[in-house]
Amino acid sequence: MHSEKGAECRFETHPAPQTVKHGRQSADICPILKEPKALASVTDLFEEYVKQNYPQTQLIVGLDARGFLFGPLLAQRLGIGFVLVRKKGKLPGPTVSVEYTLEYGTAEAEIQADAVEAGQKVLIIDDLLATGGTLHAACELLKKQKAEVQGCMVVIELKDLHGAERLSIPMHSLLQL
Ligand code: PRP
Ligand code: MG
Repeated sequence: MHSEKGAECRFETHPAPQTVKHGRQSADICPILKEPKALASVTDLFEEYVKQNYPQTQLIVGLDARGFLFGPLLAQRLGIGFVLVRKKGKLPGPTVSVEYTLEYGTAEAEIQADAVEAGQKVLIIDDLLATGGTLHAACELLKKQKAEVQGCMVVIELKDLHGAERLSIPMHSLLQL
C-alpha cells in the first residue's frame, strides 16, 4: 500500500482460521496491527480519503469490535470524535438499537442515545465488508438518530459477496479481495 505521507508499505493477507465466516476464509488484519508502518499507512490512506472527500466530517463511528482498531486512530488524526456502535448489552446508559440478520440468526447493534446529534455529519469505519449486513445495520441505527451518514470505509472488501450493493451510502475500501 502506498501513502503520500511517505510510508510505503506492503502487507500480506493470510488465511486465519479464527476468522472463517460466510463459507470462506476472510482476511486477517492482525499483520497490519503488528507492523507499525502498515498501521500508519492504513491510517494515512483513510485520512487522505476523508480530507479529500468528506472534510466536513464531525464524527467517526466505529463498529464493534474490529472497527475499534482503526477508527480512533483516524479520528485522532482528523481531530474529531469517535463513537462506538456495539453489540447488544455492552454500552452503559440509555441506548438505541437495531436488529439485523446474520448468516445464522439475528443480532442487535446499539449506540448510546446521546452519542450523535441530529444532523451531525458522520462516517462509519470497520475492518471488513463481507455481506454488508453489519454496515447496513449501523447505517440504519445512525439514520434512526437522524445523523447525516456520509459514507463508510473498510480496510478490506470481499468483492464476491457483493456487500456494497446492500448499502445505500458510498463505500470506500482500501483493499479488494
Ligand atoms: C466481522 C467484521 C465485520 C463483519 C463483516 O465482524 O469485523 O464487522 O464481520 O461481515 P458482514 O459484512 O457480513 O456483516 P464480527 O462481528 O464477525 O467480528 P468482530 O466482533 O471481531 O468484529
Ligand atoms: Mg466486526
